[in-house]
This record gives sequence, C-alpha cells and structure tokens, in this order.
Amino acid sequence: PRPRVWVSQPLYADIEARLDEWFEVTRTPRITDHAPDAIAAALADADGALVTLNDRIGAAEVAGAKRLCAVANVGVGYNNLDVDALAARGIVATNTPGVLTETTADFGFALMMAAARRITEAEHWLRAGRWQGWGFHQLLGAEIHGSTLGILGMGRIGQGIARRARGFGMRVLYHNRNRLPEAVERDCAAAWLEREALFAEADHLVLVLPYTPANHHIVDAAALARMKPTATLTSIARGGLIDEDALADALQAGRLAAAGLDVFEGEPAVNPRLLACRNVVLTPHIASASLPTRRAMVSLAVDNLVAAMGFGPDAGRPPSLVTPPTAT
Ligand code: GLV
Ligand code: GLV
Repeated sequence: PRPRVWVSQPLYADIEARLDEWFEVTRTPRITDHAPDAIAAALADADGALVTLNDRIGAAEVAGAKRLCAVANVGVGYNNLDVDALAARGIVATNTPGVLTETTADFGFALMMAAARRITEAEHWLRAGRWQGWGFHQLLGAEIHGSTLGILGMGRIGQGIARRARGFGMRVLYHNRNRLPEAVERDCAAAWLEREALFAEADHLVLVLPYTPANHHIVDAAALARMKPTATLTSIARGGLIDEDALADALQAGRLAAAGLDVFEGEPAVNPRLLACRNVVLTPHIASASLPTRRAMVSLAVDNLVAAMGFGPDAGRPPSLVTPPTAT
C-alpha cells in the first residue's frame, strides 16, 4: 500500500496534486477541526503530514502516530512544532525558508513605515469624520529617511529589510546571536551591536527573529525602557517575543511613539490594551500573504514532504530540514 499523508487544510489543489503521485492523501476540509485530539486522530495512521501554523504538533499529538516519519510545515517559523519531541520519535520536520523572504521583508518595511507615519491612525481619524481641514500640526510622525533602523534577528528576512532601508537612506544596525560575515554586512550596509545597545540606538526597531523559549518576552519592560521615546517597534516574527502589557504601558505613557504588530501572543485574540492604543498598527499575521508567495510556500512544503518520505529527485534529502531553534 502507498504511504499515507494528511494535509491539514485545503491549500492549492494543483500543487497538492503532486502528493497524489506518491501517496494516499487525506485532506481535512476546515481548519476549525484542529483541536489537539483531532490532530492526534489525523496523525494516528499517517506516514507524513503537511501542516500549517494552525496546527500545534507536540508529544501528545504524535504519541499514537506509530508510522509518522515526516511533518512538513507550510511556514518559515515552526514554533507550532515541538521539534525535540518529533526528533525523539525519529520524525523529520521541515519548513519553508527562502521563498517568502522578499514578500515578508516588503511587509515588515511597510508596517514600520505605517507605524512611523501614523497611516492607519490617520485613516481611522479621517473615517471618524474628525478632519476639519488641513492642519499644520496634525498627525506629525517620525522620520524614516536618515533615521536609524535596528533589526533584531538578521536572517534572510532581516537582511531583506536592511537592503530596503538603504534606498531610504537609513543607517542600519542589527543584533544577531552570530555576527554576519563581513561581506554580507557590507552588502546590507549593516553594523552589528549588542542587543541592549540596539534597543537604545534604534529610531525604528524591527523584530525578525524566531520564537524560542529563550526568546520569550525578549522585548520586556526593561528592553522598552532602553528605547527612545520617539522610537517605533515593529514585529513580523512571533507574538511571544513581546511582553504586550509592557508594550501597552509604554505606548500609553508616551515612552514609545508607535508600534506595528503583525503577530500576537494569543492570536487570533489581541490584547485588549493594545486594541485600545491609537498609536499601534495591528494586522492579522499577513506578512507572507501574497498569492505567489503562498503558492511557493506550499510548493516547497510538498517538495520537502516528498523528499523526507524518501521519494522524488531529493529522496532522503529534503531541501529545508529544521533543527531545534536556538536563542538569538
Ligand atoms: C509565518 O509566520 C511563517 O512563519 O511563515
Ligand atoms: C527567518 O525567519 C529568516 O529570516 O529567513
């Protein structure tokens, strides 16, 4: 019999069809079915799984999955997978780096600019009928050109944001657990700094690092206190990196000018204190959301799954294996 694969929600039928060449495929029609016991049940007789950030897969979900050998995540971040628990069971995990880099960098830059120039705040104000005429003192924002961009997490996406910043005449500083090779620093025109110094120096700080338990609330009250009161904070990474109550305190007290958030600790729930802040741009985890990019993510995930399960041109060598993440 052919190996069995579970696809956890409808993605793109034409791309998923490549799985039918090798596998017996079971598809779940709705993401709302993905309670832990439903995931465990779906994995129970699967050899492989194509999953998304909607699916949390840890020790409990794979406990009864005796045949499972590969889990392909459609997403670059994979904190929805307990990679250690999977590895302990000999289950290979993959993600989708590379294909979403530029689209996600575009969005990170846009969100930073929207926060700095108060674009959504201004639109809400206009739609509320409060605009009485051009106002010299209305809605003054922060400069982008000529300012200092701080990037925390200088992987592919961080580097993409740094390259965009050059066009805006920004000075680019970054912190990463490992310094980039000099040639890459030159290409990005970016200089490495200690994390504490980055918080203090940045006019606009953008988070693009993976979430790990060691990075939990890496932006806490103490980190926010280091930032300039005129600065902005943008995150397109994972919600758990920021202490959202501490951020709301800083935004309300005027100790931080503005924030742009695409990710939230309890998403889809958004901290009500953030919802109450005017000076934060809130978007529903859409940084990689363009049709070509979402298609490329599914395509890479399919390639990964086929290869991880020992089929196709890359049999046994999936293009993007993940390893347990480490702190930045
Ligand atoms: C989206 O957040 C991703 O990690 O791909
Ligand atoms: C990881 O998220 C990256 O920057 O590619």
